[in-house]
Amino acid sequence: MDKKVYVAIMGIGTVGGGTYEILTKNHDFMLKNHGIDFCVKKVLDKNLERIKSFGIPTSAVASSPDEIANDKDISIVVETMGGVEPAKTFIEKMLLSGKSVVTANKELIAKHWPALEATAKKGGAGLYFEASCVGGVPIIRALEESLQANHIKSIVGIINGTTNYILSKMTEEGVSYADALKEAQQLGYAEFNPTADVEGFDASYKLSILSSLAFHTCIPVSTVYREGITAITKADIKAGKELGYVIKLLAIGKKNENNVEVRVHPTFVPENHPLASVSGSFNAVFVNGDFVDDLMFYGRGAGARPTGSAIVSDVVYAAKRTKPLYTDFVNNGEIEKGIVIDTDFTSKYYLSVSVKDAPGVLASLASVFASHDVSIETVLQHGGVGGALVCFLTHSAKESDIKASVAEIERIDDENKVISLVRVLS
Ligand code: HSE
Repeated sequence: MDKKVYVAIMGIGTVGGGTYEILTKNHDFMLKNHGIDFCVKKVLDKNLERIKSFGIPTSAVASSPDEIANDKDISIVVETMGGVEPAKTFIEKMLLSGKSVVTANKELIAKHWPALEATAKKGGAGLYFEASCVGGVPIIRALEESLQANHIKSIVGIINGTTNYILSKMTEEGVSYADALKEAQQLGYAEFNPTADVEGFDASYKLSILSSLAFHTCIPVSTVYREGITAITKADIKAGKELGYVIKLLAIGKKNENNVEVRVHPTFVPENHPLASVSGSFNAVFVNGDFVDDLMFYGRGAGARPTGSAIVSDVVYAAKRTKPLYTDFVNNGEIEKGIVIDTDFTSKYYLSVSVKDAPGVLASLASVFASHDVSIETVLQHGGVGGALVCFLTHSAKESDIKASVAEIERIDDENKVISLVRVLS
């Protein structure tokens, strides 16, 4: 027999509207395939014009979150408001009323997951967030329900579409960061205030969630090393090309025995790596598990329809489950005892150093690297008026040894200036 499931949506913006569209347009399709008769009974948003623009009847508009929480018919509430408050308060209200919540809110999950999961358990409700990471790409369900047989060794991804759009534009058209950002804003990829995307916050929220699921322990967002793309120049991109690399903002999570690395930073990706060809606003996540080996998930990481697709998949999932799904690790906000976040990771590095053009300068730089156990793989030199730019590609080295080399290079001569430091994927 078909099951009637009443849904509410809090936040009718782009993604909330997309969710409504899928639930109504594909209503009969989901009824036929899943035996679930979805009905969006209530929506919550102050903007009546926007609600009407999605064809939502005004009779469905709730006057307060309490109206939804007190509605006994509604069993699933979608949250597409974004931000921490008031989304957190509203979600907690719904969970305590026993309603399962489906959210796309990565900032909220990354910062308050333990408290929200505890509230969900208290209310006997589910908390689902497939749409919080990588838009329409079903990476969360894959980690939770398809890769359980594996120790996940690494997750390496392009998980922010805005920065990928900007870097792709800089790479393909040789434009500056400022011009690429302006265009991304005009096209609606980047927000008016782009900080969350371009400074890597958005990617660090997603990496915290994905690596917690992959490594079966809380990986607090505060432990994610974060560097954005605002300092990347046309010269870095040109040097990368000369050396056979494409620059990407990567989110990297690795686990080796009890050591975990979690970091978000611009990275030179070898041009023959599958991630190098992920361009524009697309996202991709490259996962390696001990038995499955390499996997790549690719698709649209944002937008009404892809993100709506992920939300509705959670809505269907919540409607079909007899018991809510909770994390398979102790979700108390702390890293499991014995696991260490390794901030002194090993990587190959690209460095460009502005120096005076004089005999012995290159040798002096080389000797600094040697004294810190950093081995050089390639050197490029570009002469200039009154000085030179020397670019180094190192073999694998420790982050601390690179940082010490940078400090010493700048100390030994006032004219030495390390212009760029980009980690290299190997
Ligand atoms: N702002 C995000 C991005 C989309 O640019 O990928 C939503 O997570």
